[in-house]
Amino acid sequence: MARSLGRTALPTLDFINRGRSDGLDLTDARSVEAAVAAVGPDLVVNAAAYTAVDRAESEPDAAFALNRDGPAALAAITATRRLPLIHLSTDYVFDGSKPDPYVEDDEPSPLGVYGWSKAEGEDAVRRATGDHIILRTAWVYSPFGANFVKTMRRLAEERDEVAVVADQVGSPTAAGDIAVAIGAIAEQVLVGGAAVRGTFHLAGAGTASWFDVAGAVFAERAARGLRVPPVFRAITTAEYPTAARRPMNSRLDTTRLRETFGVTLPHWRESLAAVMTALEAEPR
Ligand SMILES: NC(=O)c1ccc[n+]([C@@H]2O[C@H](COP(=O)([O-])OP(=O)(O)OC[C@H]3O[C@@H](n4cnc5c(N)ncnc54)[C@H](OP(=O)(O)O)[C@@H]3O)[C@@H](O)[C@H]2O)c1
Repeated sequence: MARSLGRTALPTLDFINRGRSDGLDLTDARSVEAAVAAVGPDLVVNAAAYTAVDRAESEPDAAFALNRDGPAALAAITATRRLPLIHLSTDYVFDGSKPDPYVEDDEPSPLGVYGWSKAEGEDAVRRATGDHIILRTAWVYSPFGANFVKTMRRLAEERDEVAVVADQVGSPTAAGDIAVAIGAIAEQVLVGGAAVRGTFHLAGAGTASWFDVAGAVFAERAARGLRVPPVFRAITTAEYPTAARRPMNSRLDTTRLRETFGVTLPHWRESLAAVMTALEAEPR
């Protein structure tokens, strides 16, 4: 997501990315303080996180250090400097037992270490600063880094058979759309003086299973004459055991974001098509 943020052009604001390659380690408050002092921002966006959902089960200290303690320290710094903080969080704070899409006021009840560390990170941010906007997003894909869409694309090249979980449903979201939305929210906070703060769900329109997303990736490839796996089949969560349990339903209701900031994201299929165009245009 950090790379998508860095590529988003805004009429009135500049994104300045700072991360580990610049000496900013979110688990080291002094390095965060130094980076904020050097950049002198009007608003801070925290897109750093420990996101290895399965590995977190065996590395809870690392997950909590980055997802709870780092945001707590950052929020204390932004509070002292009177800067608004936009903090990214996740659908995995929910346990998935709700039959309907989750709204912001639903009680978090994470199933694993990653979700717990993110839920506690949200609480730490809320305690440290009232000037926060927590954006829970979900099922993020982009042309950059490692993500489900890129994995399916690779498997389409390599495998004769691909089996994908069809009984988990969520809200696929393009990182580029998140970046544009964050820009629009930041502009309203800084330029328009929007006063509303709190927790919001930010996700692509439409819902899907992982099987649906994989199917869309393969359809985009087929439309371009590219290889797809000869056998593509749906499996259940029980047939694909992982270290961390995942919510069966993590669809996010984004009404509050639309009504507050006028921000809606495109349908995931539309954004997936754009991401596939970007990916398949790359030289191999
Ligand atoms: N990916 C998803 O499907 C998903 C779903 C829901 C919510 N989210 C949330 O969205 C946000 C962004 O996630 P993402 O998908 O962009 O994750 P990601 O691809 O794993 O990126 C994590 C980022 O954190 C940075 N980072 C790691 N350790 C750091 C440290 N000690 N100090 C400073 N930066 C550090 C990484 O920097 P390097 O480049 O140096 O490694 C990277 O830029 C997170 O809050 C995540 O919880 C993601």
